[in-house]
Amino acid sequence: MRLAGKVALVTGSSGGIGQAIAAAYGKEGAKVVINYSRNLDGANETLAQVEAAGGEGFVLKADVGSVAEVKQMVNESISHFGQLDILVNNAGVEKNAAFWDVTEEDYDKVLDTNLKGVFFTTQAFVQHLMATKRPGRIVNISSTHEDMAFPNFTAYCCSKGGIRMLTRNLCVELGPHGITINNIAPGAIETPINRKLLNDPTKLNSLVGQIPLGRLGQTSDVAGLAVFLGSDEAAYVTGSTYFVDGGLSQFYQEQ
Ligand code: NAI
Repeated sequence: MRLAGKVALVTGSSGGIGQAIAAAYGKEGAKVVINYSRNLDGANETLAQVEAAGGEGFVLKADVGSVAEVKQMVNESISHFGQLDILVNNAGVEKNAAFWDVTEEDYDKVLDTNLKGVFFTTQAFVQHLMATKRPGRIVNISSTHEDMAFPNFTAYCCSKGGIRMLTRNLCVELGPHGITINNIAPGAIETPINRKLLNDPTKLNSLVGQIPLGRLGQTSDVAGLAVFLGSDEAAYVTGSTYFVDGGLSQFYQEQ
């Protein structure tokens, strides 16, 4: 098992990509802290999946947009399992609006969850590793939109672009402490975040037509890479983004 003896915290793992990563980590022998903010049923379903895979899990409520809650989440994880080795910053939200209509409330929600949450969860995790003089792995779920434009999702793109620079900066700052940090940039993955798109056949067909592999991604497509980046096999991998997008971000068609 590739993660035996490790303890991982996966934020926002009550559904979607986070749930698949938590289950895959459990299958590979990690003990998993399953964080959720609202969906307790989903978190319990993740716990059941981790246990069915032969792993051990612990469900923990916290809003990653709150620094106080994030610190408590990291402390409670360590109290429960004795240590943390891997952090997966997965929790994320998006809001659809033309730039000129974006409200302060929506901007704050997106930036607080997607960037401030990643920043301070990572800080609390790193403080634990440094205090215990242990190495660690940070895996951020960013997006192809850390790089590619996405009209009507400017706050989302700012948050994911921020994660891109956070990862590059921290790879330099944390490398000497044996801590690696990488981004996974999913393309279009079939999860609740894409509910509207999945229910719009015209938009969906048009998008799939731009994906060289000819299909949407599944959460398992992302989880496999998250296992690798959290494992000892990825010991010399840091500061990079890995795209899981079926080729979407490389596709360019002459009109
Ligand atoms: P999802 O909506 O199923 O999952 C997002 C998770 O984050 C949910 O479990 C939600 O409860 C949790 N969450 C939201 N706000 C939170 C908060 N304040 N505190 C704690 N948890 C919170 O969607 P999905 O697709 O699984 O998203 C996971 C990550 O993948 C997100 O960061 C998203 O931006 C990213 N992503 C997803 C893509 C896709 O096509 N599905 C594409 C690119 C990136």
